[in-house]
Amino acid sequence: PKEFFKRGELSKGIEESGLKAAKFFNKKLTAVKEYLFSRGIDEETANEFLLGYAPSGYVGELKIPKEEAQKLGLVNSRGGEFFRNRLMIPIFSHSGNVVGFAGRALSDNQSPKYINTPETEIFKKSSILYGFYQSKEEIVKKREVVIVEGYFDVISLHKIGVKNVVAPMGTSLTEKHASFLKRYSQSPILIFDGDSAGTKAAIRSAGLFFKFGCEPRVVQLPKGEDPDSMARKQPEKVLELLSSPKTFIDWAVGTVKTSDNQVELLKQVVLSISELKTINPFLFKEYFSVLSAEFGVDEAWL
Ligand code: CTP
Ligand code: MN
Ligand code: MN
Ligand code: MN
Ligand code: MN
Repeated sequence: PKEFFKRGELSKGIEESGLKAAKFFNKKLTAVKEYLFSRGIDEETANEFLLGYAPSGYVGELKIPKEEAQKLGLVNSRGGEFFRNRLMIPIFSHSGNVVGFAGRALSDNQSPKYINTPETEIFKKSSILYGFYQSKEEIVKKREVVIVEGYFDVISLHKIGVKNVVAPMGTSLTEKHASFLKRYSQSPILIFDGDSAGTKAAIRSAGLFFKFGCEPRVVQLPKGEDPDSMARKQPEKVLELLSSPKTFIDWAVGTVKTSDNQVELLKQVVLSISELKTINPFLFKEYFSVLSAEFGVDEAWL
């Protein structure tokens, strides 16, 4: 398992409390071993991400100062437990401090599926990416980054050896995420869920990268699958798909053509591509002529 460093990024108290809480939950991991087994997560992977379990009564057992428990989102303003009886996924800052948690329901009748530490001064969802800390080394080595939608997508891809993966947390990708990732890769790979929400998110996210002059690529998953479910069922297929992502424009043309919502999706694609207008006018023009030819409409109409 990776070591968890403290870098003096935050106050000493909060750095210690965050790591202490994550390790406390991690020690209780056996309580959810059946859940993890059902999702194909082995102990090594669970420990790499310091997954854990929050029993009820955790606040009393944990013994960290109330103010810090609040900052980490472990208790609400009245001191009530936020995460009881959930699988705990610690969120690491990009330099490795535990700054928040996500808690996953352990059964379908526990709702909502995920709860996340609320936005705090140390936990900024618009700039932190889940998995970046664990993936950084590989991202730097490969000069390539894979972007997925969810926590388990990051975890399961790691398990099959794809270790340059990040995900936003309970929100869409933001401009801040895109400008941050641009420093690591000129051509990020988007691999979102095989559903209409995933398609829309991919088109929208591509626009954020175009704004910074990147050329995002896209991997399409079969209907109803996400990277986690695919990594479990067909790991070799996922590796193969990731080795030959499509350029955004090729993917978008195919996706729009096979959709039952062509005009609306095409409009979203045009909006995303338009982000290239000033930063890369040459590519902007090229993409427009591709769309114009493929859909038999003139560029002015587009
Ligand atoms: N999400 C959230 N709250 C929810 C549902 C989703 O914060 N109630 C966030 C989580 O970060 C989640 C991501 O959106 O990982 C993607 O959502 P979805 O695809 O619905 O969940 P999965 O990641 O596939 O969740 P799982 O595999 O655990 O069922
Ligand atoms: Mn989804
Ligand atoms: Mn879903
Ligand atoms: Mn999903
Ligand atoms: Mn999933």
